[in-house]
Amino acid sequence: MEWGMANRMAQLVQPDGHCLFLPVDHGYFQGPTNKLEEPRKTIEPLLPYADAIFITRGVLRSSVDPDNAKPIILRVSGGTSMVGKDLANEGITTSMEEAIRLNVAAVGLSIFIGTDYEREALLNLSKLVDEGEKYGIPVMAVTAVGRELEKRDARFLALASRIAAELGARVVKTYWCEDFERVTRGCPVPVVMAGGPQVDTELEVFEFVHDGIQKGAIGVNLGRNIWQNDFPVAMIRAIRAIIHENVSPKEAQELYNSIKNE
Ligand code: 5RP
Repeated sequence: MEWGMANRMAQLVQPDGHCLFLPVDHGYFQGPTNKLEEPRKTIEPLLPYADAIFITRGVLRSSVDPDNAKPIILRVSGGTSMVGKDLANEGITTSMEEAIRLNVAAVGLSIFIGTDYEREALLNLSKLVDEGEKYGIPVMAVTAVGRELEKRDARFLALASRIAAELGARVVKTYWCEDFERVTRGCPVPVVMAGGPQVDTELEVFEFVHDGIQKGAIGVNLGRNIWQNDFPVAMIRAIRAIIHENVSPKEAQELYNSIKNE
């Protein structure tokens, strides 16, 4: 691996081999998402506990101070919205030149496998990888499921993750699912897990994060289940402890309870 690529990967993946990425990019297709209406207010208290943030250039410039940032994974795909015809019809929204100007550690885009637009999405990924490799910038592929949450099963996610890795993604973001080892086993590059919509209890989040790490994920790219929680700092710190200190879900719950009562 070239020095620049290796250095950027080392900014993202910590010396213990694990990582906590905080995605705050949801507005790029959802608009002012619940609890992310004022991005700066959401991001600032969580920043000290994140290893990197996943963000668009607009929110990066407006809501993150350049002298107090964490490594940036720049969201560079988009062009669709929740109210449009088809979320899957994304293109590349941000050039590699802009990514370099913003001094990012990586770029990220969604791939919509199994949709009418999978070919376009996969060619976008391939082109982005070509450009990223030229400048030493890793690409994180986001295996999107759009509104079809039922696609979150091992068969589909293993297929999507493997294809992303084959086309050159340096990191793959997917969802936790039953038989998660099937996803990680078939994916020869590091896998991180997203959370999806907020689930009912904190313990559910701690349990799937813990299970996913045991089964080969290197960490998370987990947003709503952190910043839509009533106690987001307690949540991120508890998840961080699972990822970087190998605590159990029960210990994470205890940590969450004690921090929220501080
Ligand atoms: C949405 C994304 C998010 O980065 C990803 O889904 C992770 O966030 P969450 O844990 O809220 O699902 O790609 O654009």
